[in-house]
Amino acid sequence: MDGRPVAERDHRILTAVVCGAGVAPDAYRLVELALNRGWSVDVAATPSALAFLDVAKLEALTGNPVISEHRRPGEVRRSLSEADALVVAPATFNTICKLALGISDTYALSTAAEAIGRGVPVAVLPFVNAALAGRKPFVAAVESLRSEGVRVLFGPGGWEPHPPGTGGERIDAFPWAAVLDAAGVSAVAGGAG
Ligand SMILES: Cc1cc2nc3c(=O)[nH]c(=O)nc-3n(C[C@H](O)[C@H](O)[C@H](O)COP(=O)(O)O)c2cc1C
Repeated sequence: MDGRPVAERDHRILTAVVCGAGVAPDAYRLVELALNRGWSVDVAATPSALAFLDVAKLEALTGNPVISEHRRPGEVRRSLSEADALVVAPATFNTICKLALGISDTYALSTAAEAIGRGVPVAVLPFVNAALAGRKPFVAAVESLRSEGVRVLFGPGGWEPHPPGTGGERIDAFPWAAVLDAAGVSAVAGGAG
């Protein structure tokens, strides 16, 4: 982690918020893509996501700890670096609805909420089935996040929801690169890719 302000850094930092959805084990693909574009990556996982993730693999790739919980009061501050961009991918029904409402009961949600408030480019890539995606709270959440400037890759031109129970068939098609593009995570000079 690099605690220097953005203006003093010579590299770009992406915060990747990962939620507990079926495609989460592939989140290393998102990390690899961002690293290949020359960005540093911090991963903030929801507590639910941890069961899906190979945390050691993500930490080896990024060189940074995967953070899933707030520090305890009095513990040394070790929050993520001030990001240049943030993506929520995969984003669950649960986290999308909570983020839109301003609920901040996980470290990952707090990080995303603050990024939106700071005006950092934020993009959200849901992995949510059609039964959940049709619910009024979800539809309202997507609209609300978009009204705050968040890029939500959902619906026509974005990620289309899958019938319940078929998410496993869509994992390979999950557009990790598109969510990076939406957050402005483009290749920087000197990057590996
Ligand atoms: C095996 C498994 C797969 C799941 N897949 C999804 C999914 O694809 N999308 C989703 O929104 N929730 C999914 N869930 C439910 C979420 O994990 C659950 O709603 C959880 O509370 C989300 O927490 P989070 O938003 O903090 O990550 C899945 C749960 C399990 C156990």
